[in-house]
Amino acid sequence: MMGSSLLAKKSMESIAAEAYGETSGLRRVLGPWQLIFLGIGAIVGAGIFVITGHAAAQYAGPAVTLSFILAGLACAFAGLCYAEFAAMIPIAGSAYTYAYATLGEIFAWIIGWDLILEYSLGATAVAIGWSGYIVSFLKDLGINFPAALASSPLAFNPQTHTWETTGAIINLPAFLIIALLTVLLVIGIKESATVNTIIVILKISVILIFIGAGLFFIKPSLWKPFIPPNQGEFGFFGLSGILRGAGVMFFAYLGFDAVSTVAQEARNPQRDMPVGILGSLGICTIIYIAFSLVLTGVVHYSQLNVPAPVAVAIDAMKLYWLSPFIKIGAIVGLISVMIVQLMGQPRIFFSMARDGLLPPVAAKVHPRFRTPYVTTLATGTLVAVAASFLPIGIVGELVSIGTLLAFVIVCGAVLVLRYTHPEIKRPFKTPGLPFVPLLGIISCLYLMSGLPRDTWMRLLGWILLGLIIYFFYGRKKSRLRESQISENK
Ligand code: ALA
Repeated sequence: MMGSSLLAKKSMESIAAEAYGETSGLRRVLGPWQLIFLGIGAIVGAGIFVITGHAAAQYAGPAVTLSFILAGLACAFAGLCYAEFAAMIPIAGSAYTYAYATLGEIFAWIIGWDLILEYSLGATAVAIGWSGYIVSFLKDLGINFPAALASSPLAFNPQTHTWETTGAIINLPAFLIIALLTVLLVIGIKESATVNTIIVILKISVILIFIGAGLFFIKPSLWKPFIPPNQGEFGFFGLSGILRGAGVMFFAYLGFDAVSTVAQEARNPQRDMPVGILGSLGICTIIYIAFSLVLTGVVHYSQLNVPAPVAVAIDAMKLYWLSPFIKIGAIVGLISVMIVQLMGQPRIFFSMARDGLLPPVAAKVHPRFRTPYVTTLATGTLVAVAASFLPIGIVGELVSIGTLLAFVIVCGAVLVLRYTHPEIKRPFKTPGLPFVPLLGIISCLYLMSGLPRDTWMRLLGWILLGLIIYFFYGRKKSRLRESQISENK
């Protein structure tokens, strides 16, 4: 079988050894709470601060709360599968590496290519969200950043399926924040656990203050009907709107895989990995439910399709003093999410280049800073350009569908590897086999099924482009193929 022959060439142990590289000798210092905090730091970002507004206004209405519950469930199943692999190979974006070891090179390529959607486009969406909050914050300080320089020149109308121009030129703040973070990442900043803890406390506090204050301003009439009637087309309100909302809001949960990548540093991975993943997912789900109830309870959902929906809600409550605090929480909080994504992507490119699937230059490490600078710069450029010109809704949906696909493959790979290679040492084992991986596959496919046709077409186009590149470049240059050729000589 393809997976086994591949394992013979590139054993799981050698992959793990390569993966650990200079980080071998990691100390097992992280306890359950640190893992939960790490997860929350990577999870809470543009999803809750921005995209909730879009999902409520366009697809689900107040029932976006139910969308959060659905999406959280799918993440829990997928998260448990992710943890099994991550405990074997704890590097960021390692879904690529897992697929390489279990399903073969072409699947690995597809997943690596697909992960560009999760990481690069994920950072793009968060940068666009960040821009909305910084512009709004500057306005509070009396600085009017020109609107034409702070939003996407393009908008997509999901009901007419057409692109429209907005009159804006470029989203400059989104461009600038990515450029700045890219430079910092090339130099090699590493967010310490302490900085992460401070950021998490800040962003969770502002969300809790918003929820607490909002409770006094809720008008239950705004929740009626809680599930607005379907508008005649699948996905626009009604039950199908909840499903579509779940597919869109899946974005808000991304980042929990960051927990799984530090499995080697966990004091007790078998117990603490599920605690870290499910704990951070559980806490985020509860916060998201409360947050979305307050948001749709203080302003009518139809008014939330804006760059900074929380600001609209605060204005509706006339709590103007609260506004700057919430915005600072969002501005700082979104930065930690972008750092995780902008660090993960270059490392995936780096692994792909080492396997010969991308040009060797992508595997270069900076002589002084010891960072994968070529791929970091390439990622930064790609993300900065995308963030300058694309609207957040489209980008977020593409991130969701791409990541859901990656999760389907990861859940499948956990099953495959348990049966083909039961002997491999697994510091953490997904419980309830085969049900948990199967439920992961089914629930992720279900969420994907609710996403718009246009998003599916974009995903297919992206995969097709990836396959073309693979057949014209990767397949010919791959290290695996080279080693096969030299063996046959
Ligand atoms: N979950 C992350 C966010 O919402 C990607 O920003």
